[in-house]
Amino acid sequence: MSRSGQKDRTALLDVRGLTTRFATERGPVTAVDGISFAMEPGEIIGIVGESGCGKSVMSQSIIRLLDYTDHVSYEGEVWLSGEELLRLSPSRMRKVRGNRVSMVFQDPLTSLDPLYPIGDQIAESLRQHRRLSRKEAQARALELLRMTGIPSPEQRIKEYPHQLSGGMQQRVMIAIALACEPQLLIADEPTTALDVTIQAQILELIVELNRRLGMGVLFITHDLGVVSEICTSVKVMYLGQIVEEMTTARLFANPLHPYTQGLIRSIPRLDGDRRRKLHVIEGTVPSLADRPEGCKFVTRCPYADAKCRSEEPPLETAEEGHRLKCWYYREIRSGAREATQYGE
Ligand SMILES: Nc1ncnc2c1ncn2[C@@H]1O[C@H](COP(=O)(O)OP(=O)(O)OP(=O)(O)O)[C@@H](O)[C@H]1O
Ligand SMILES: [Mg+2]
Repeated sequence: MSRSGQKDRTALLDVRGLTTRFATERGPVTAVDGISFAMEPGEIIGIVGESGCGKSVMSQSIIRLLDYTDHVSYEGEVWLSGEELLRLSPSRMRKVRGNRVSMVFQDPLTSLDPLYPIGDQIAESLRQHRRLSRKEAQARALELLRMTGIPSPEQRIKEYPHQLSGGMQQRVMIAIALACEPQLLIADEPTTALDVTIQAQILELIVELNRRLGMGVLFITHDLGVVSEICTSVKVMYLGQIVEEMTTARLFANPLHPYTQGLIRSIPRLDGDRRRKLHVIEGTVPSLADRPEGCKFVTRCPYADAKCRSEEPPLETAEEGHRLKCWYYREIRSGAREATQYGE
């Protein structure tokens, strides 16, 4: 995988130095800050981090959904199978969106149109991108609904969004997203609004479709348990940056960034050790107007010192496939550096 020099030609997605800024009354703020990563076809990559870390802004920048916000600007490059998306004209971009890349959101009801039967809404994308006739599109819509495992698809296809439960609405959103067999599916907390049983079914569906259709999935969540179930690798975001990335197995076995360690220790354990106190990462994510100069995690890090406050650490390779942004991860790992502030 090339990080400098030539772009990665085999990659499904190659994001290079992606930066997204919003103009605000207090001046420009940086919501996504120089993100680079590559994704191979068929991979499921998890993106985690607390609320406000920039997960949604990053994914919406990739598919350029923020184009419709007048105060946004992008920098960097987003290559999808060899085509750079940030420089495409709005009309070319409309041909990519919903066709080669699709997105599923947390709240399906805000994305579905209350005025049309769901069959029409699935068919719409097919008619637009694949120029199918009305009849062909309706037949394919039924096939897609059936594939999502919705009960009685022949009946449901004629119904309106409000007639469906939350889990069924999310299945419809997935059917719409998959209508044109995208190479890449971006799922932004697709199961957060659902109860646990339905959540498990939707996750299973996404994994099954990933295997069957070979599409890449960028899976955004704040639930590390979900990541461990379905993702092969994971990127931890903090204040608009990737602060650590590794395989999912390493995430739990050997997290090195103090932020990732805090996230892992804050997961409630079901193995019965009730004496173990639930760890809380002190403080909150700073607002974009108050991003620290050096390491972005400095205001909450128990190991931070003056260097962390003034100089930003690079994203460094700790092991093959494991990178992180921390000046002191070696010392923290060996125990040579102790927590000074919020340590247990
Ligand atoms: N249109 C916008 N204009 C200005 N700032 C924005 C806009 N959209 C998002 N932001 C800011 O960008 C930052 C990142 O937000 P984002 O929605 O990407 O977080 P997130 O990681 O997806 O959080 P959550 O887990 O709550 O969904 C936040 O500080 C947010 O306030
Ligand atoms: Mg979000």
